[in-house]
Amino acid sequence: MERYLIAVEGEAAGDDEEAAEPATTQYLVLPVEWNVIAGRWQPYTLAEDWPAPEYDWEDQCAACHVTGFSVDTGTWLENGVQCETCHGPGSAHLEAVRSRTATPAEQRASIVLSPDAAICGQCHSAGTAPDGHPYPTDYLAGDALLDSGYALVAPDDATHWWASGHASHPNMQFNEWLNSTHASALEGLRSSERAQDACLACHSADYAWSQVPAEAADEAEGEGAQPVTVAGAVYGVTCVSCHVIHQAPGEDDTVPVDFLLAGEPYALCVSCHQDTDVTGVIHAPVKEMYEGESIIEGIDGVPSAHFVAAGGPTCVTCHMPRVPVETATRGSHAFHPVMPGVAANIAALQDSCSICHADKVDAPSLQVLINDIQADTRARLEAARAALTEETPAWVEAALRFVEGDGSLGVHNYVYTDIVLDRVERELGLNDDAAAGAATGQ
Ligand code: HEC
Ligand code: HEC
Ligand code: HEC
Ligand code: HEC
Ligand code: HEC
Ligand code: HEC
Ligand code: HEC
Ligand code: HEC
Repeated sequence: MERYLIAVEGEAAGDDEEAAEPATTQYLVLPVEWNVIAGRWQPYTLAEDWPAPEYDWEDQCAACHVTGFSVDTGTWLENGVQCETCHGPGSAHLEAVRSRTATPAEQRASIVLSPDAAICGQCHSAGTAPDGHPYPTDYLAGDALLDSGYALVAPDDATHWWASGHASHPNMQFNEWLNSTHASALEGLRSSERAQDACLACHSADYAWSQVPAEAADEAEGEGAQPVTVAGAVYGVTCVSCHVIHQAPGEDDTVPVDFLLAGEPYALCVSCHQDTDVTGVIHAPVKEMYEGESIIEGIDGVPSAHFVAAGGPTCVTCHMPRVPVETATRGSHAFHPVMPGVAANIAALQDSCSICHADKVDAPSLQVLINDIQADTRARLEAARAALTEETPAWVEAALRFVEGDGSLGVHNYVYTDIVLDRVERELGLNDDAAAGAATGQ
């Protein structure tokens, strides 16, 4: 905060601390901000006039930028985002640790330690509390954020969303994430008859979570953490599936670091978006499709032009595009590309393709290209599925699953997709050439 923002002491701030008026305005946000990247001042406009209630730091801002904020008094315990915002009030924990009778398990249970995205969402969201404040007013880590009366901005609120479904306002990572299937990954898994505990490695933050205490506990007490089961897991792919909050175990893991990613971005995405032995059938093979790995016997893979090109896009370039929010941009957490056809109608938005291809192709043409690729792939998949018989060799089913499981309908790697479908069509006698060959008896 301090790095970006200057607040001035408001007139309401009296020297006499005894006469504590509730929610007094001690600080007002200035209508300018320092842009660290550009190295210059720029307007910070929250209302037409300054001062105005919108610039009231305690009322409008502090709750998400400090720890232990009280809406009633307008005061807080500590500057910045400190331990208790994520771990809950520490008093019970302190008591448990000091009492010599509490077991390590009881000590652990006395503090919130949860991969719940709502803990991050108490600040990384846009919404309104029942009393009108733009943040949840009496949420504590561990509570159910959305049951507290705090209402997220509506999905059709044009002051907070682009028509493309990406947020147009900062600190909306939770709102965006909630709309993605990452949030519902556990329900997605449970809907499958093949669901088993090993699937949780990619479908639930609880799984990764259970590994951390296991290591710590093994060393300290020889007491393993409870294994996480499909029935017992609570969360899908949450913020902490991708963001590490503390240093790795072994380092000083009580010091919060700069919210690092849990790996280099591409490696992070493909750690889950790749085929796995666990499922027995080809599952989520985006890595294999994008990199051109051979996973169907007898068909050689071809990497996508994007994967091999120097400066080509990675998953994050297309799926977490930097989208304008007020005077800045944010890497979107909707996890959907900004499609060229949609962006063509919204001047401020740059789509996920034009950032590189604008010099040669305009956005509408790029959309036509994508539509053609997807329509073609979809039609070929349907025709092939319809032609399957009892006698069809097993590799054909695997090949179709490969293309379907990639999910992009050819966009990730059209050349490879085309090769795979071509082989399938030959096998099923759907290919024009094969059909012609059969007709002439060759
Ligand atoms: C932004 C949220 C956040 C803040 C702030 C935060 N933590 Fe954490 N903490 C977490 C999460 C999430 C974990 C789970 C493990 C991980 O991702 O590293 C965790 C794990 C821990 C653990 C390891 C627990 C275990 O047994 O495995 C300790 C100890 C800890 N935090 C202490 C602290 C202390 C002390 C502070 C303040 C200096 C703090 N944390 C601040 C979110 C936070
Ligand atoms: C009490 C409010 C609060 C909570 C809770 C909180 N954050 Fe934040 N977070 C912030 C604020 C404020 C900033 C911006 C700080 C700045 O730019 O000076 C921020 C910044 C970040 C950043 C960007 C850091 C950077 O260096 O660019 C990430 C990533 C992040 N938070 C992730 C998380 C995750 C994950 C959680 C939950 C485990 C979480 N936050 C919980 C308030 C919060
Ligand atoms: C609902 C919680 C919430 C409220 C209310 C809130 N912020 Fe933030 N703010 C955040 C979070 C979370 C971040 C970091 C994530 C992001 O910027 O997308 C952030 C980031 C910032 C940043 C750094 C942005 C940058 O470009 O680096 C500034 C400056 C800031 N807030 C100022 C304010 C001011 C001024 C107000 C009141 C008018 C305010 N915030 C109200 C949660 C909030
Ligand atoms: C290596 C990581 C990983 C493992 C292990 C994994 N999944 Fe998935 N799963 C994914 C990813 C990534 C997606 C998203 C694919 C998409 O949206 O295109 C997904 C999507 C799904 C879906 C919804 C989409 C669909 O294909 O119908 C179901 C259901 C599912 N998985 C079930 C399972 C089951 C059952 C298991 C265990 C037998 C399992 N998964 C194991 C990564 C994994
Ligand atoms: C911890 C595992 C994991 C990681 C890491 C991960 N994903 Fe996913 N992702 C999943 C699962 C599981 C699903 C599908 C859930 C379902 O359909 O039930 C999914 C779904 C998706 C979807 C479909 C979204 C939608 O709303 O339909 C996209 C796109 C996606 N992920 C992109 C990414 C990108 C980009 C990254 C890297 C920044 C990433 N994922 C990292 C597990 C993961
Ligand atoms: C060149 C841009 C681009 C790159 C790079 C890219 N994708 Fe995609 N991806 C797309 C487009 C476009 C779609 C189709 C979206 C649609 O049909 O709405 C898609 C579809 C998907 C889907 C299924 C979509 C859904 O919503 O269910 C998943 C999952 C996915 N991509 C994950 C990834 C992962 C993981 C990577 C990195 C290995 C990656 N993508 C790389 C552009 C890209
Ligand atoms: C599937 C992986 C994934 C999940 C889940 C995820 N993030 Fe992120 N997050 C990323 C990646 C990758 C980046 C860096 C994007 C970039 O390079 O532009 C990022 C960046 C951020 C930033 C900095 C944004 C900016 O552009 O300045 C914030 C803040 C943040 N994440 C918060 C959150 C919060 C809060 C949640 C949960 C509600 C969350 N993330 C869930 C992968 C993820
Ligand atoms: C980060 C930059 C970048 C982004 C984003 C990007 N591309 Fe590309 N694209 C390239 C590069 C580099 C090449 C290879 C050199 C060339 O053919 O121009 C390429 C090649 C292509 C090709 C030729 C492929 C072939 O097989 O020869 C097509 C078609 C294409 N891109 C479409 C798209 C679409 C559609 C999107 C958005 C979904 C997109 N690109 C996003 C950089 C990008």
